[in-house]
Amino acid sequence: MKKNEKKQVVMSGIRPTGILHLGSYFGALQNYVRMQEEYECYFMVADLHSLTTHPDTKSLRANVLDVISEYLACGLDPDKAALYCQSAVPETSELYLFLNTLAYKGELEKTTTFKDKARLQPQNVNAALLTYPTLMAADILLHRALYVPVGKDQEQHLEMARNFANRFNHRYGEIFPEPIAFNFGEALVKVPSLDGTGKMSKSENQNATLYLSDDDALIRKKVMKAKTDEGPKTPNAPKPDYIENIFQLLSLVSDKEVCQKFEADYNQCTIRYGELKKHLAEDMIRFITPIREKAKTIRDDENFMKGVLEKGADKARESAKKTMQLVREAIGIKYF
Ligand code: TRP
Repeated sequence: MKKNEKKQVVMSGIRPTGILHLGSYFGALQNYVRMQEEYECYFMVADLHSLTTHPDTKSLRANVLDVISEYLACGLDPDKAALYCQSAVPETSELYLFLNTLAYKGELEKTTTFKDKARLQPQNVNAALLTYPTLMAADILLHRALYVPVGKDQEQHLEMARNFANRFNHRYGEIFPEPIAFNFGEALVKVPSLDGTGKMSKSENQNATLYLSDDDALIRKKVMKAKTDEGPKTPNAPKPDYIENIFQLLSLVSDKEVCQKFEADYNQCTIRYGELKKHLAEDMIRFITPIREKAKTIRDDENFMKGVLEKGADKARESAKKTMQLVREAIGIKYF
């Protein structure tokens, strides 16, 4: 990059409605840590979004601080990336309103996540749940971000953000780049759950998900319970999904030699799954323990946490203010 060239802007968010797990690490955080070196990064905790599904705010503060401390423990640096809360940037709500004038009821109602959530909480199909994608678009467009590191489940929301950006640009003038999903052009690492069904998850499937806050005994217990079978009966047999998953997890945290040894054992039908799982458990512990301990130390330092959030909010607001000035002028609500 040339010296005075502005860095591209990266923006992503996470709802504080569950706890971070191994999939969050390999699917997102690891990439964020790389991105903060190269891009102007905004990583946000979407506390306003969480109100659309979790109106009870008793555990909100704890959840927000947990996420931030785990982000920091995984290597995000408040001097490089802006780490902040959505609610600390009031400009978000202002842009949300403008974008809502460009979002149609019909398309919002058709959004997959809206339909799913409405089914789950029929007693609380609130207007902010319907306009969830507009709020997310506001988060992104507020920094005029180009790159949005998210998984497949957010692709529809991102497409809507592109549509809103386009409509705005078309109606009021070119202000926003069209944000796109971005992960260094690499496929996202798959982090399967331990029971052979689906992926690790923030809130479901808790016994088959390894959380960054799990203690050693719990990690051991979850790994040892992972589904296996009698072992292959013929050399070089294809692996059933649940066995493939264990190998996949091993490849994330264990040395190459260990993976190769168990591959060879499998292919020669000499594999002992108890031994494989013991290895996996110990390597998982070696991986997760330093993150858990670091997160706890950070989390316990309230002054430090406050400083991080203030610094992040300042950076995010500075960027938001600039955008909103352009937005207000483009719309024509600057009268003097
Ligand atoms: N909707 C995202 C999720 O559920 C969280 C989110 C909120 C987000 N605002 C965002 C993601 C902006 C990327 C960019 O995971």
